[in-house]
Amino acid sequence: MQQKIIILDFGSQTTQLIGRRVRELDTFCEILPYNKFPKDDPSVIGVILSGSPYSVHDPEAFKVDLTQFVGRMPVLGICYGAQFISHTLGGRVEKADSREYGRAHLETVDTDNPLFRGFDQHSQVWMSHGDTITAIPEGFKVIGSTADVKNAAFWSADTDLSSLSTHPSPLFAVQFHPEVFHTVQGSLMLKNFVVDICGSRQEWSAASFVDTTVAELKQQLGSDRVILGLSGGVDSSVAAVLLNRAVGDRLTCIFVDHGMLRKNEFQQVMDDYKGLGLNVIGVDASDKFFADLAGVSDPEKKRKIIGRDFVEVFNEEAKKITDARWLAQGTIYPDRIESLNITGKVIKSHHNVGGLPKEMQLQLCEPLKWLFKDEVRRVGRQLGMPEHLITRHPFPGPGLAVRILGDITREKVRVLQDADDIYIRGLREYKVKLSGEEARKVLAAGVPVTFLNDQTANHSNDQIEVSLYDQIWQAGAILLSTVRSVGVMGDERTYENPVALRAVTSSDAMTADWAHLPYDFMAKVSNEIINKVRGVNRVCYDISSKPPATIEWE
Ligand code: XMP
Repeated sequence: MQQKIIILDFGSQTTQLIGRRVRELDTFCEILPYNKFPKDDPSVIGVILSGSPYSVHDPEAFKVDLTQFVGRMPVLGICYGAQFISHTLGGRVEKADSREYGRAHLETVDTDNPLFRGFDQHSQVWMSHGDTITAIPEGFKVIGSTADVKNAAFWSADTDLSSLSTHPSPLFAVQFHPEVFHTVQGSLMLKNFVVDICGSRQEWSAASFVDTTVAELKQQLGSDRVILGLSGGVDSSVAAVLLNRAVGDRLTCIFVDHGMLRKNEFQQVMDDYKGLGLNVIGVDASDKFFADLAGVSDPEKKRKIIGRDFVEVFNEEAKKITDARWLAQGTIYPDRIESLNITGKVIKSHHNVGGLPKEMQLQLCEPLKWLFKDEVRRVGRQLGMPEHLITRHPFPGPGLAVRILGDITREKVRVLQDADDIYIRGLREYKVKLSGEEARKVLAAGVPVTFLNDQTANHSNDQIEVSLYDQIWQAGAILLSTVRSVGVMGDERTYENPVALRAVTSSDAMTADWAHLPYDFMAKVSNEIINKVRGVNRVCYDISSKPPATIEWE
């Protein structure tokens, strides 16, 4: 039976990160809403309670019945989780004099305690809470304190809350966040909990995922035929390669070219797919898209036309595969985590292939539905896919159409493709050397890097080299085709369009920061674009964060 850790989500922004850290320990976990603990599931080996935007004293604060698991299996409360445990079991939680936010150091830490085995004294931790635990429940013992937070970590070896307790199980609570990279030994703490305390056998790996999933797909799909829409992005590509392993040529992939992909992208991606042995139908439908988009400037209208045309073209091809029984999609775990919505503060839109012909009666197959993005990438590597497919930035479905202000023409797309190509190639070629906290941040995000020294324990002194492209979430150029400005080239006056460059850092595209690209890089790219791309005489850099701006301009 596959073991799992349950993470109960009380609405914290870092809940997903806890999930990723547990998966990095080769252990399967599920993130569930705080009130959906699965009853009688023998595969659950431990529980983690997340943080929350609420105080335990808020009338709308989320509450959970601890007797469901405390005393039955090891439990770890993080931040609000710790405060909830304290508040419920007879301790005291009060408003902190000032919000405790940022770096702190454990002034005392009990390294004999199984949670902190291997910890350094003064280890850096990350605090982020408005309430503080002023008294721990009876029977508990403090095992970690910072200068400002006496009860930073506490535990009880055997809390027995109900007649359901079968054997003594420990209960741990920490007010800091072990899942964020600023907590230097956070991964060690989570390993102590997940592996040593809960007894994970660490059997969840890319290799085991590939083996089990391929076997399951073979069983599920039998000798049926499957259709999959490819976008060139990492999720659909990995899904295709996995399915291809399971059903071979009975998988037909459809890749629609709407004419607004990046420069040479259609051909390159088709070549990649063919190199991977996929059975792909490439459809050049660009004439249809350009005709339908002619003269349309409104961003939402452009999106709707592209969405509608895409479904039409895809369906036309899909219908030709008359014996298909399944539609496969590259849906990944963050697209589905129900609890993302529990506070009503996160809205995630999900871009699926919509409106397939009903008469086809296709069943849905989503082989990546349990994976986080970084796991999808690891599975891609395990499957031997080329690195440039695996590390590709996200790209919007409507492509460059939402990066050209105003109406769309083939010529405008050509201009933008050329500028974008110079920019993206530059980002790939420019390497940055990082160390210390900056390096750990990049490593924690699962970015591919080159190590410049021997790797250190906890990655605390690693020196790494990473390309600008891999360091950022997403980048692209935008053609401001509704704006013209004067310039001079040689002896000639020009009156042409500006191009804006956008690069952002993010972990999920819900919020994003503009990337602080090096000046020498920007100077080089700007020069190259203005000199080489006819129709562009000015380059700007977008320094807006999301919110209030969005990543795309339209
Ligand atoms: P925004 O612009 O809303 O974008 O900050 C968030 C993320 O979603 C991508 N995006 C899209 N993807 N169809 C897609 O498939 C779309 O219409 C679309 N609009 C935005 C965007 O590139 C970013 O990664």
